[in-house]
Amino acid sequence: MGHGGNVIEELTADHREVDGLFAEMETHAAAENRRRELADQLTMELVRHSVAEEEHLYPAVRRYVDGGDDLADMEIADHSEVERLLKELEACRPGDAQFDTLVAQLKSSVTAHVRDEEDRLFPLLADACPAETLNELGDKVRRAKESAPTRPHPAAPDTPPLNKLLAPGAGMVDRVRDMLTGRGKND
Ligand SMILES: [Fe+2]
Repeated sequence: MGHGGNVIEELTADHREVDGLFAEMETHAAAENRRRELADQLTMELVRHSVAEEEHLYPAVRRYVDGGDDLADMEIADHSEVERLLKELEACRPGDAQFDTLVAQLKSSVTAHVRDEEDRLFPLLADACPAETLNELGDKVRRAKESAPTRPHPAAPDTPPLNKLLAPGAGMVDRVRDMLTGRGKND
């Protein structure tokens, strides 16, 4: 979850982690339980990453990069699409035909996001933003990602925030986001 380096290195390492989860899902085609676990882990990594980018990366892009507002708005729209797919995936079992379709759609959306950031947005930010600020943003992103558990394992539901993550009500995507942003703290 926390990798090290400036904001660009930290978020790029997240991208590689997510690539690895997609690859692992493809190699576990027959093991349904493992695929559900990987889907849950992917959900948490992606929500954590999105929240950290929205809190710290895109405000910096708006501030330092020419045309940054448009770039940031576009990335945030991509996040909404990824979250919509994650919510659909959450309701799906690995044996359902739709599970594979959703994972494929998610992979294509996320891959496009990753290419866009690594090929365009990160180089623009690296050129425009002071190195010291990039380092500080790296620390902020690591802190922003820390609040949610790494994986929702039903074997240990008694300790917070895991019990909250598994509680009935809103879906996991919304609960992870709430935990990370501090929304719904008094539930
Ligand atoms: Fe990203």
